[in-house]
Amino acid sequence: MTSISQLTLAEKAALTSGSDTWHTQAAGDVVPALTLSDGPHGMRRQVKSAGDALGLNNSLPATCFPPAVALGSSWDPELAHRVGAALAREASAQGVDVVLGPGVNIKRSPLCGRNFEYFSEDPHLTGVMGAAVVTGIQSLGVGACVKHFAVNNQETDRMRVSAEVDEQTLREIYLPAFERVIRDARPYTVMCSYNRINGEYASQHRWLLTDLLRGEWGFDGLVMSDWGAVNDRVAALAAGLDLEMPPTGTDAEIVEAVRAGRLAESVVELAGERLLKLARRVENRRRFDGWDVAAHHEIAREAARAGAVLLKNDGGVLPLAPGRRVAVLGELARTPRYQGSGSSHVVPTRLDNALDALGAAIEVSFAPGYRLDGHPDEELAARAVEVAAAADVAVLFLGLPDAAESEGFDRTTIDLPAAQVELLRRVAEAGPEVVVVLSNGGVVSVSEWQECASAVLEGWLLGQAGGSALADLLLGTHSPSGRLTETIPLRLADVPSHLYFPGADGRVVYGEGRYVGYRHYDTLGTEVAYPFGHGLTYTRFDYSGLETRETGENEWSVELTVTNAGERFAHEVVQLYVAFEAERPVRPRRELRGFAKIGLNPGESERVRFTLTGADLAQWSVSRGGWAIDAGPFAVEVGASSRDIRLRAELSSPGDGYAGPLTGMSTLGEWLAHPVGGRVLKELLSQGTGLPDFERADPALLGLALGVPLIKFRTFGIGLSAEIVDRLVSAVEQG
Ligand code: BGC
Repeated sequence: MTSISQLTLAEKAALTSGSDTWHTQAAGDVVPALTLSDGPHGMRRQVKSAGDALGLNNSLPATCFPPAVALGSSWDPELAHRVGAALAREASAQGVDVVLGPGVNIKRSPLCGRNFEYFSEDPHLTGVMGAAVVTGIQSLGVGACVKHFAVNNQETDRMRVSAEVDEQTLREIYLPAFERVIRDARPYTVMCSYNRINGEYASQHRWLLTDLLRGEWGFDGLVMSDWGAVNDRVAALAAGLDLEMPPTGTDAEIVEAVRAGRLAESVVELAGERLLKLARRVENRRRFDGWDVAAHHEIAREAARAGAVLLKNDGGVLPLAPGRRVAVLGELARTPRYQGSGSSHVVPTRLDNALDALGAAIEVSFAPGYRLDGHPDEELAARAVEVAAAADVAVLFLGLPDAAESEGFDRTTIDLPAAQVELLRRVAEAGPEVVVVLSNGGVVSVSEWQECASAVLEGWLLGQAGGSALADLLLGTHSPSGRLTETIPLRLADVPSHLYFPGADGRVVYGEGRYVGYRHYDTLGTEVAYPFGHGLTYTRFDYSGLETRETGENEWSVELTVTNAGERFAHEVVQLYVAFEAERPVRPRRELRGFAKIGLNPGESERVRFTLTGADLAQWSVSRGGWAIDAGPFAVEVGASSRDIRLRAELSSPGDGYAGPLTGMSTLGEWLAHPVGGRVLKELLSQGTGLPDFERADPALLGLALGVPLIKFRTFGIGLSAEIVDRLVSAVEQG
């Protein structure tokens, strides 16, 4: 027997649910059982009977690569691809067919407890990085699983909450990263999210799982549930969810629904076919007995170096100059926090810490300074201040403890623990120059304390080699090259979703719409602590020679030269934005549309090239139910962050030529702007119908009139009748 259709109904139904926490159901010699395992930044392969989706039980040791917060900050898809391939090798060695990741949800609020697992507040960057991880994983034939589809941007009430989000915001912010991954990287599987979207559970959202995902985007793989996300097996299958994970033992509901005519057997069969297709796809995955633990640790170290972001470096205190007396302070230097909690928790193969790594290279003194559980400890603090006083430079490791952020709950503050901030003040007063190194999965506020530090190195959660990677950067064997993928606001209250997050009463309204992250701050010109895209290096880059060329209709090439004008090798992340200026905001002020990470030696230059197309200018039009490109001016901005634009060119788009239907309810302004409507209306006016000549009218009157639906002029006693409007409408219809 080789086909699903030959199975009994009960056997087919059984295929639509797992056999246990980490395995799919087998069906005789037709479909083999497949092994699934977390997670996005390292394998969490649990062995028998210890299966859980919460990271409670141990798993086999595996390389803990930097979580997405840090990998994303590398802005380096090639590196993400290599990390993906290394993950796949470990997956394969552990008998895993599908890796449950990456997660490509948007960071809507810095409070989301799972931000460490996501790449960015920006959909373009998220999509590019997510696609790179997927192609990396699948390059060895192991399946990837892009998650959590969709609009899963908080942990509070995640299994029930309804994300209330308008269509334009969905299309422009919360769906594009998924779309890019599906179209560019063709993942074998997708995992639906727990939450509801505008009232409907993602697991039974037909538009999402079928019309959009398969119909529009061409997804041809298998959709599985998040662990426990299915509420109604029959509704889920009918909506396009192929596999419930883990099993709830409710296969009989499906059999019953088919027998009662509530569910077509073909739907059950199709889900089985998709499982079989997945099995065939992963059947040829490359087999490995193990992996080179040291080599993978090196990849983790490279990725960690690439992900740390140097926020400030006054007076060039970093890299640490030889001969200076260095104090390393803070428990986090010795006991690193290098990954987040929950289903992505990895048991590492090794673990570096910054204290040992620094101590191996230079002489350092050390004091832990504070307790990780946040309890004040005067003795520890006083000792650290003493050690600081005897040093030229104090490298103080601060950050969030495990208990502060995790999958499953959101933070309520972005502040560092008070005892740590207090210690920083005292250390600064003791006299040394202060370098702060941060460890945190979600953004922490720097405004209250950063004046106490000459340098701040944002180390996020950097995986198992984070400690040595940080030492590489502090000592200057490598230059920092990470860039912020999310804005650090001055205050939590400045965050655009602040009034709405995380909602109440089962709903969270996405009231800020598409103004997420820098789209909000840059549109309003709000001051921020550090902008999207920001990050310093140990060198300086010059931008010059911007050239734009129209290469087709709504297509432009953009070129510029970047030169390393400093003294050291480093990487620059060149960012391309499209920008729209208007008297009042009609769309986000600027949006990232491209980036390139390039490594340059001192004095070296490189020509960087981008292509812009109409899709980069398009906005979602609700009335058209599609993407729309407005005719008119826009600018190309190239820079080192969203607030550090170095080069700019003004361009103009002819638009997409769309001239929508006109009706009597279209305004005078819409009529005049319409290529045919404008003409026929002007013809009518020139025939002396008694209508006023709007174009010569007093500006205030014209301003008023432009917004009035044409048919309404009928009642204004100016000679426009319903018949005339009808005639105009049919003239437009005939072109
Ligand atoms: C998480 C998923 C994870 C799954 C299996 C869920 O709680 O949301 O990201 O893949 O558990 O551990």
